[in-house]
Amino acid sequence: MDLTTSYLGLRLESPLMPGASPLVDDMDMVKRLEDAGASAIVMHSLFEEQITGERLATIYHMELYADSYAEALSYFPHGDDFRLGPDQYLEQIRKIKKATNIPVIGSLNGTTPGGWTKYARLIQEAGADALELNTYLIATDPQESGDLIEKRTVELCREVSRSIEIPVSVKVSPFFTSLAHFAMQLDGAGLDGMVLFNRFYQPDVDIESLEARPTLKLSDSSELLLRLRWLAILSRQLSCDLAVSGGVHTAEDAIKSIMTGASAVQMVSALLALGPEHLLVVREAMTQWMEENGYDSVRQMQGSMALNRCPDPHAFERANYMRTLATWSANNDVK
Ligand SMILES: Cc1cc2nc3c(=O)[nH]c(=O)nc-3n(C[C@H](O)[C@H](O)[C@H](O)COP(=O)(O)O)c2cc1C
Repeated sequence: MDLTTSYLGLRLESPLMPGASPLVDDMDMVKRLEDAGASAIVMHSLFEEQITGERLATIYHMELYADSYAEALSYFPHGDDFRLGPDQYLEQIRKIKKATNIPVIGSLNGTTPGGWTKYARLIQEAGADALELNTYLIATDPQESGDLIEKRTVELCREVSRSIEIPVSVKVSPFFTSLAHFAMQLDGAGLDGMVLFNRFYQPDVDIESLEARPTLKLSDSSELLLRLRWLAILSRQLSCDLAVSGGVHTAEDAIKSIMTGASAVQMVSALLALGPEHLLVVREAMTQWMEENGYDSVRQMQGSMALNRCPDPHAFERANYMRTLATWSANNDVK
């Protein structure tokens, strides 16, 4: 069975890879991932705040002296909470490159335009084969319009793509008013790929201590549906490659993602819960399914359920919406 795929100009043995997570901070884990058939290693994000150590130090200094800042600043993790400091992060890329035969995709989460490009170059110099830009952002400023945020993100991607030679992808969130329009602008900014989607973590509130409580729940397959919709809508309209991230746990999830147009399938929650070897389980089950259903290659399957450039996507979505609502009355009795 030919599972090969092309993602960010890299020829990969299969679409299956770990998504950005601290799994790869540990070399034993990296080896286990390679042995389980990971076709690439995606690093967790290097955060600009980690590099500008002074800034973090300032934050903690302020925290000591100004109670009014304490609440906002307490959201920042202490320097020690990052498993790899910036130098170790770059060193880890070098180590993984040396110890494995698979491409390494760096990941960066910057805060300033200069920071994004400077650290992108450092990640390239460390030997990364590609770079994923993690644009995790909650728009909290009421003065800042969606248009402004989109333009800034597109410009940032253009700048980073221009400033390094390795392929660049961007990991985006689904929360844009016109995601198709935004994706098209990103596609025109020189990017090689897009990762759908970033997963937003939603802090709970503690009603006794009156504090926000960070919560990190692992995903399940239901989160994939949002990704499938957008893969299907975007994959035929964009020229860059698409990767799925969010809700891939089984071979069926991976197959659906490929059929709707993903070139790469990233998994995190499933590997954190079940270990790196789960990649092999998914790979074997996917191969078996493909054999049983008459497929010879991933390429043959890829995009087979993507929407063709629809003459009226609005009407298509409306029809789907109405059909979905109608399934309830047709199938269910109200108790
Ligand atoms: C513990 C943990 C750490 C993560 N760290 C990063 C990160 O550094 N950068 C990033 O872009 N995504 C990060 N993610 C998000 C994952 O890459 C992924 O997008 C998300 O978990 C959804 O995929 P899943 O459903 O397979 O878990 C992290 C997720 C987890 C659970």
